[in-house]
Amino acid sequence: FNKPLTIAIDGYSACGKSTLARALAKRLGYSYIDTGAMYRAVTLHLQRQNVDLDDEGAVAGAMQSLRITFRPSDNHVLLNGEDVESEIRGLAVSKLVSPVAALSIVRRAMVEQQRQMGKDGGVILDGRDIGTVVFPDADLKLFVTADLDTRVDRRLRELRGAGREVQRVDVAANLEERDYIDSHRDDSPLRQADDAILLDNTDLGLDELVDRGAALVADLRADR
Ligand code: CDP
Ligand code: CDP
Repeated sequence: FNKPLTIAIDGYSACGKSTLARALAKRLGYSYIDTGAMYRAVTLHLQRQNVDLDDEGAVAGAMQSLRITFRPSDNHVLLNGEDVESEIRGLAVSKLVSPVAALSIVRRAMVEQQRQMGKDGGVILDGRDIGTVVFPDADLKLFVTADLDTRVDRRLRELRGAGREVQRVDVAANLEERDYIDSHRDDSPLRQADDAILLDNTDLGLDELVDRGAALVADLRADR
């Protein structure tokens, strides 16, 4: 009997998490929650209001006027109803998102909303702290990695494919800096959960990565 699972996918920046999560969700008929998009939308909100990140009161105030939702038809992230899917992927937001995501006041609000959205299972979430903090009892935890160079190449191709003029050095610096901040912050640092399965996809194509994920889900179901 197939009880709906909760699947947690974590890992470093641009390692293939969201591509894997989206494809697996489609195969399984599950919903997909892009938690990175939520932190990016918060960042855009604070940026637009010129909030000083060192001013806790100002951050708390700005969080009061923030509502993040996902449009069911295309999973685009909405900030107070506005489709900001494209804007949050640019380097301006990418440069500020890790400092914003290190703030406990921001994390508390996001984690609560993520738990609420995923409480009934049949869901795949990807991010940095899903298997360690958001759903520590998830049925399946994947920790995705790839070499930095490979990740930079892939993200660069993705950004340029979307028509953005970005330099390789800037993308590389951003990925490295975010990985460092994300894994060294005090609140919910990025780390592989003890019971997570490591998926290195440096030498795997997209289809192979998704097949690998799907095989792990099938194994899990066969064991139950
Ligand atoms: O797609 P990419 O790997 O570049 O990043 P993302 O998944 O969109 O996440 C953007 C940033 O949000 C990360 O670098 C983290 O700082 C933060 N984040 C987090 O702290 N916790 C999560 N669960 C997801 C993202
Ligand atoms: O979500 P995360 O930031 O971890 O990575 P992603 O957005 O899923 O993947 C970054 C880019 O790498 C996307 O354009 C993927 O299509 C691409 N990719 C790839 O070409 N081959 C893989 N094995 C994994 C990802």
